[in-house]
Amino acid sequence: MLTNTPREFAFTEQDFEKVRVMIYNYAGIALTPAKHDMVYGRLARRLRALGLRTFNEYLQVLERGDSKEFELFTNSLTTNLTSFFRESHHFPMLADHLKAARGSGVLNLWCSASSTGEEPYSMAITACEAFDTLRPPVHIIATDLDTGVLETARQGVYSADEVEKLENNRARRFFDRQPDGRYRAKQELRDLIVYRRVNLMEPNWPIRGPLDAIFCRNVMIYFDKPTQLKVLQRFAPLLKPDGLLFVGHSENLYHAADIFKLRSKTVYERVQGGAAATSTSPLRSGLR
Ligand SMILES: C[S@@+](CC[C@H](N)C(=O)[O-])C[C@H]1O[C@@H](n2cnc3c(N)ncnc32)[C@H](O)[C@@H]1O
Repeated sequence: MLTNTPREFAFTEQDFEKVRVMIYNYAGIALTPAKHDMVYGRLARRLRALGLRTFNEYLQVLERGDSKEFELFTNSLTTNLTSFFRESHHFPMLADHLKAARGSGVLNLWCSASSTGEEPYSMAITACEAFDTLRPPVHIIATDLDTGVLETARQGVYSADEVEKLENNRARRFFDRQPDGRYRAKQELRDLIVYRRVNLMEPNWPIRGPLDAIFCRNVMIYFDKPTQLKVLQRFAPLLKPDGLLFVGHSENLYHAADIFKLRSKTVYERVQGGAAATSTSPLRSGLR
């Protein structure tokens, strides 16, 4: 919706519509008209950085195929809210799942919307605690669309506020205090995780199964139901038959009941012989 307040940059309904179509086609993110002001606020920073005066000019830059700017456009439109041990009931379940698989080689976990890293580090800490070692037989691939948050995750440096509120002596056991007062995840913890940029809409994910668990939390809320379903159809064959899918608190998989069934609060397992995709069929062709 357009507001009457004069704005620094001209932003018409047509401009919003173009942004909406671009980000939906590329990232599956479904922006409702209520996000008009949010889009303005986030992209205004890019216009300022480029010295542009209107969104129309900015959209022309994107339409000319400037791939670096397209990456920054995408990064601007993602919402990256996360925290350590968010939705904490998932982690004891993950620990039990890992312990039950003890002795069956390296266990593979995929964190498919890792944001700034708090989620994959929480998974890594859970694995260390489950096996009582800083070198558990666990490999985590952590992916996200947003290159900015992936860089933060790779660095593994967090504020004292975030780390010092961790329970069970975790700050001391899993982080090193930096001279500036912040904390960095210990090398052993960082070594458990590999980061990659993966757009869940891209036709070929660089992920090989069979996986013991997939975390896909608080990202499907940005997708419409058909897009969610296509992602879920591709998750299922990547999981071991007893593998687990962890989703966010406001995400339910009723529309994928022939693929995933509820194991426990927002934790799902595959329906054996269900309707999962067997190949990596493209979700949607990329914009560029
Ligand atoms: C709200 S955060 C959730 C972070 C974490 N999973 C959690 O629950 O705390 C959503 C993340 O999804 C990512 N994302 C959005 N669209 C995506 C896509 N198409 N492919 C991969 N990641 C995407 C965003 O960049 C963002 O970091």
